[in-house]
Amino acid sequence: MKTLVVYTSQTGFTKRYAKWLSERMEADLFDLKDVQKKENSFFDGYEAIVYAGWCMAGKVVKANWFFDRAKNWKGKHLALIAVGGSPNDNPDVEVAMQNILTDEQRDYIKAFYCQGGFNYEKMSLPSKLAMKAFVGTLKKSKDEKERAVASFIDHSYDISDIKFIEPVVAYLQGGSVA
Ligand SMILES: Cc1cc2nc3c(=O)[nH]c(=O)nc-3n(C[C@H](O)[C@H](O)[C@H](O)COP(=O)(O)O)c2cc1C
Repeated sequence: MKTLVVYTSQTGFTKRYAKWLSERMEADLFDLKDVQKKENSFFDGYEAIVYAGWCMAGKVVKANWFFDRAKNWKGKHLALIAVGGSPNDNPDVEVAMQNILTDEQRDYIKAFYCQGGFNYEKMSLPSKLAMKAFVGTLKKSKDEKERAVASFIDHSYDISDIKFIEPVVAYLQGGSVA
C-alpha cells in the first residue's frame, strides 16, 4: 500500500516514530513544513496517509492541517499518531485520546498514542517556560499524585520504543477503522 507519513516534531521523538513507521511500511516520509502547501494532487497517489504530531496540553500540534485535508481523503486509510511525554498506560492518555477525534472523524481516521518523553535540551524557550510553570503548579499541589507527576516530568527522559508502532502497522496492513 503506497503510504505517506507526515510529522511535526519539536525535540525529535515524533520524528523518530515517523521514521520507524515509514521504514517499516516502506512509506514516503515528510516534515509537515515541506508538504503543507502542496496541491491536493500530490496526495492523490497515496492509499494511506499518517499524520504524527506531538501532544501539547492534550492536543496534537498542527493536527488541524490533517483534519482539514482528511475530509477529502475518506477513501484512504488515515491514521493520526499522538506522541506525548505520558506513559501509554497513564489513564489521562485514554481520556485525552477519546477527545482527540470527533465522532464524525472517527468514521474515517484511526488515532494512536505513542509514548515519547521530554528533551529539555532541544525544547524551545516558550515550551520550556510553559513546562516550568506547569511543573511549578503541580509541585505545590495538595494531591500527592500530582506532586509525583511533577518530579517525573521536571527533567529529560526517553520512554519511546519501536514496539508502539505495531498497532499502527496492524491497522495500515489490515484495514478498517473499527
Ligand atoms: C508546553 C508543552 C505541553 C505538553 N503537553 C503534553 C500533554 O498534554 N500530554 C503529553 O503526554 N505530553 C505533553 N507534552 C510533552 C511532549 O508532547 C513530549 O515531550 C513529546 O515527546 C515531544 O515530541 P517531539 O520530541 O516530537 O517534539 C508537552 C510538552 C510541552 C513542551
